Amino acid sequence: MKSNDLAQSRRLSLKARLKRVLGPAGVFFRGFLEHPRMVGSVIPSSRTTINAMLDPLDWSDCKLFVEYGPGVGTFCPHILDRLPRGGELLVIDTNPLFIDYLRKTFGDSRFHAVLGSAENVEEIVKSIGHEKADYVISGLPFSTLPDGVGENITAATYRVIREGGAFLTYQFKGAARDLTAKHFPRVETGFVWRNIPPCILAWGWKDAASADETQA
Ligand SMILES: C[S@@+](CC[C@H](N)C(=O)[O-])C[C@H]1O[C@@H](n2cnc3c(N)ncnc32)[C@H](O)[C@@H]1O
Repeated sequence: MKSNDLAQSRRLSLKARLKRVLGPAGVFFRGFLEHPRMVGSVIPSSRTTINAMLDPLDWSDCKLFVEYGPGVGTFCPHILDRLPRGGELLVIDTNPLFIDYLRKTFGDSRFHAVLGSAENVEEIVKSIGHEKADYVISGLPFSTLPDGVGENITAATYRVIREGGAFLTYQFKGAARDLTAKHFPRVETGFVWRNIPPCILAWGWKDAASADETQA
């Protein structure tokens, strides 16, 4: 092998090794560097945040779970572990880098990764054969989204969730919780210290009794 070819093959294998070592964290960091306002954070959520958000839900009859802004899929294996056999997980992200990574990473037949905006959740849910979602979780950085986008997303989310379902958010600032309270009649909140940075949790419930009083 010529010395030029050797140098090039060393560079390639260094790049491949670096990619393997950095794994999802490297993909997430690259996504942040390319779109800092849309990604909103350099570090994925902690295991404490994931369990605190997902544990209070009734998983027994969950048919469709939707996640906005999955990034590199920090929540996805934990959602798939909890989903019953007939349940499905739909993730929606605006970043093609993340969607491409997720499609290559999760081979589960219950998993759907769609490139698009959470604003269009109703048509995306229909496109995979569902009318309603049981639960929607959002990792979106509501406080840095373009004007009006957070409002549109929360209104569409209220419409797409079935009676008895819930909208879950975790965010470093209170923007997501406040928007949830504007659209959902009952909101429960929590706080997780063990996250970088610590975050505010909110569950907006679409209770059966309040479902006709459409606030969206
Ligand atoms: C803070 S990251 C969430 C990371 C991940 N959920 C976690 O907990 O580690 C925010 C994600 O929202 C995505 N995003 C931003 N605006 C969006 C929109 N309108 N619809 C769907 N995804 C969006 C970004 O591409 C990014 O993947």
